[in-house]
Amino acid sequence: NDMAESLAANRAELTHKNEALSTANEHMQSMQEQLLRSERLAAIGQLAAGVSHEIDNPVGIILGHAELLLEDLKEDDPLCDDVAAIIDECRRCKRITGGLLGFARSPEGHHDRVDLNQLVEETVASLRPQMLFKDLDLKVDLLNEALFVTGDADQLRQVMINILLNAAQSLQGAGCLQVSLVKQSDHALMNVDDNGPGIPEADRERVFQPFFSTKAHGEGTGLGLPLCRKLVEAQGGEIYVHQAPLGGARLSVSLPLSEDCF
Ligand SMILES: Nc1ncnc2c1ncn2[C@@H]1O[C@H](COP(=O)(O)OP(=O)(O)OP(=O)(O)O)[C@@H](O)[C@H]1O
Ligand SMILES: [Mg+2]
Repeated sequence: NDMAESLAANRAELTHKNEALSTANEHMQSMQEQLLRSERLAAIGQLAAGVSHEIDNPVGIILGHAELLLEDLKEDDPLCDDVAAIIDECRRCKRITGGLLGFARSPEGHHDRVDLNQLVEETVASLRPQMLFKDLDLKVDLLNEALFVTGDADQLRQVMINILLNAAQSLQGAGCLQVSLVKQSDHALMNVDDNGPGIPEADRERVFQPFFSTKAHGEGTGLGLPLCRKLVEAQGGEIYVHQAPLGGARLSVSLPLSEDCF
């Protein structure tokens, strides 16, 4: 009997240790993934800074010459289309190098006291008149109480613009876009929902990897969301993707609230 009891006790202890081991294993795996991610980002950052430096200037010069050339050509000159194509492609290069530079820069921002209600309202108001947003059913759900965070207002605005642009692009001119603010104990949560095609589950982490883009060639650099994640994490927050209640994608940004708000 004694033996049976001690056997049972041993087995219980073993099961317990086994569980602890598998938890530790999972933890280690997730740490390793995180490490890989930050190593990859650091490598990209270094490469980006170098390449952007070297490429940005010559491309700028080509662009300048092409623009001058286009000015000199008569409107019906058959070369106009070719020069316009050079200009377009140079601008695309500048967008990419600009995005990479933004990515490589360390996000040492200001420590402003930012009113999230106001920031969301202003950002949406600035986008509303744009072509891409004009015909959308665009709703904003602000919170009835103060929502202050400490961070860099310009960077947070940039994050919001990137997310809103993505949502509007996914809707291709028609559909619903909803921005809402929620308070969750010591965090503010901003949800941006759309009823577009959404993001398949398998891509919900990949969208934060540099250069992941499903947009047509030349339309997306795939640096928008990685930059958003970098900026949000630099302010102690998190950004992630869900399925939206509206059927499309939900981008959520969670930011720590200023102490006097919780
Ligand atoms: N609201 C959304 N609905 C559907 N897909 C989305 C949405 N937001 C992001 N995505 C997907 O995530 C990808 C990555 O977005 P990200 O902003 O990083 O790059 P991009 O928009 O393709 O290019 P850019 O550098 O110009 O922003 C998009 O190409 C798209 O596939
Ligand atoms: Mg984008």
